[in-house]
Amino acid sequence: MEAFLPFYGRRKGRPLRDTSKRLLEELLPSYLVPPNIADPAELFKDNPRKLYLEIGFGGGEHLAKVAKNHPENAYIGAEPFLNGVSSFLKYCQNEELKNVRIWPDDIRLQLSSWPNECLNGIFIMFPDPWPKIRHSNRRIINKDNLATFSRLIKVGGSLRMASDHACAKNWILSEILDSPYFDWLVESSVDWNEQPKDWPETRYMRKAQKEGRRPAWFNFKRVSVEPSRLV
Ligand SMILES: C[S@@+](CC[C@H](N)C(=O)[O-])C[C@H]1O[C@@H](n2cnc3c(N)ncnc32)[C@H](O)[C@@H]1O
Repeated sequence: MEAFLPFYGRRKGRPLRDTSKRLLEELLPSYLVPPNIADPAELFKDNPRKLYLEIGFGGGEHLAKVAKNHPENAYIGAEPFLNGVSSFLKYCQNEELKNVRIWPDDIRLQLSSWPNECLNGIFIMFPDPWPKIRHSNRRIINKDNLATFSRLIKVGGSLRMASDHACAKNWILSEILDSPYFDWLVESSVDWNEQPKDWPETRYMRKAQKEGRRPAWFNFKRVSVEPSRLV
């Protein structure tokens, strides 16, 4: 069992319409990730080429597109906000997605039972910024979570992130560049200033652009670490 981990985000928003309630009752069970799974690869019977995790998929726009564009891969999405889960289930239904599974809760409740190097990558698009210093322990990128992500992502795999929030952009970069396990794949400012072609847009990205905030796009590679770099 996990120690108690407080989750500070929203679990519910506007009252759900009947169609959304029906999706949660009838469709979610076939996509659900059970608690404390030993190996996420076992959720997919068709031997996917690669396995990715999206943390905080919101309404599921990004997750639905990457899953549709890459039927050869498998994707697990985590999102405690039920309205978002029901929005994503609409994509699952309309696109008949077979290569996704959903953990409708805080991802930290899952990860400790997952084996080392079980993922090809993690996506975290527009994480909650928690800009106040007194809330900084709520940020998804912190030392503990980064240690977990580096344990789970295969060497050569990726941690992809985007953010429109000045404070979040800085803490994402400073925390991750401080980790010996990740290299920032960047050659010029274009790499973080322009949305990469294969990164589908999200609801928060559209909202940020509409309100005049410029997103930054970060692609980090999980690298192997010489023991001498760890001391
Ligand atoms: C600002 S929203 C962005 C949603 C979406 N990625 C987008 O770009 O539209 C951040 C999301 O992360 C989710 N989240 C925060 N902490 C999480 C956690 N520990 N596990 C899973 N989801 C989390 C929140 O519920 C929220 O929906």
